[in-house]
Amino acid sequence: MSILPVAWAYDHVRLIDQTRLPQEFSYVDIRRAMDMVRAIQTMMVRGAPAIGIAAAFAIALAAQEIDTEERSEFLAHLETVAAALRQTRPTAINLFWGIDQMLNVARQTVGPIPFLKEKLVETAQKLAVDEYNTCVAIGENGLACLPAQPQRLTLMTYCNAGALATVGYGTALGVVRAAHAADRLLQVYVCETRPRLQGARLTAWECVQEGIPATLITDNMAGFCMYQGLIQAVVVGADRIARNGDIANKIGTYSLAILAQTHGIPFYVAAPLSSIDWNISDGSQIPIEEREIDEVYRIGEIWLTAPGMEVFNPAFDITPARYITGIITEQGMVPPDQLHRLQA
Ligand code: MRU
Repeated sequence: MSILPVAWAYDHVRLIDQTRLPQEFSYVDIRRAMDMVRAIQTMMVRGAPAIGIAAAFAIALAAQEIDTEERSEFLAHLETVAAALRQTRPTAINLFWGIDQMLNVARQTVGPIPFLKEKLVETAQKLAVDEYNTCVAIGENGLACLPAQPQRLTLMTYCNAGALATVGYGTALGVVRAAHAADRLLQVYVCETRPRLQGARLTAWECVQEGIPATLITDNMAGFCMYQGLIQAVVVGADRIARNGDIANKIGTYSLAILAQTHGIPFYVAAPLSSIDWNISDGSQIPIEEREIDEVYRIGEIWLTAPGMEVFNPAFDITPARYITGIITEQGMVPPDQLHRLQA
């Protein structure tokens, strides 16, 4: 677990500050639950599984910071923090999953408050370890689905669904990692992922750190790479999966899926079972986060357009199930129309 974006450090949480990568690798120590709310909002920690775990740790922090012997007051404080967390990022269901796991444990555990406090830290830590193991299983299952020929494949990925987006391994990049470890990877093409550049800033950084052979392209080069026959499979992550197999992922995923289908290239979505929202029937019901227009207006201090220009900045899009070859989870790969087989 060399790249660990979120971890419990004795009495607080330590985050890799993902807003500073790749210029600077630095940690931020989070000691108050509301500071974690801000860290999620500002994308210091981001990626669906990672924000689920960060939210779980925020509830653990909330438990430590409240000084009371009253169970009702204790639970009320956790609920207040949970409500603030729920307002941070609406699309990734893992955020809500992490919060619910923790609140269920808090409500169901009997015993004195100090015991509850300990139990909540233990629970968040266990969720983090489970998340890592889940990603390793996704990597292995993904490796098994990749085309048999050629021996060494060229893959394409989008955004960052790597160690930084999970708890140290990755979903889509976990499949790439597993292919590399099995000597089945020639190259991964990394799309830069406008406007926040998670591909260029984060996935590229991970590949360089780990010696994974990778090539960076701008998003509009993906079609040409496919046209040239360079790509054997596309693997992306997901922020939420609907019951019918439609998925929400980083804005631009939909275009990539259509391109892949047009070129006869398999398009895989790698995500843990906790990314499936069994309560919604299709992608149209997934809430799509819109972020501040500054992300499109400029990069740092450099303006990319005329100030005053209208800007639309949805952070995610929906890829309909018909463009997806398979959904790879810790339970194996299923075609999207067979997703219901995983519900039990
Ligand atoms: O806005 P972000 O950076 O949190 O978006 C991340 C993505 O869209 C990832 O592809 C997705 O969360 C899968 S991460 C394993």
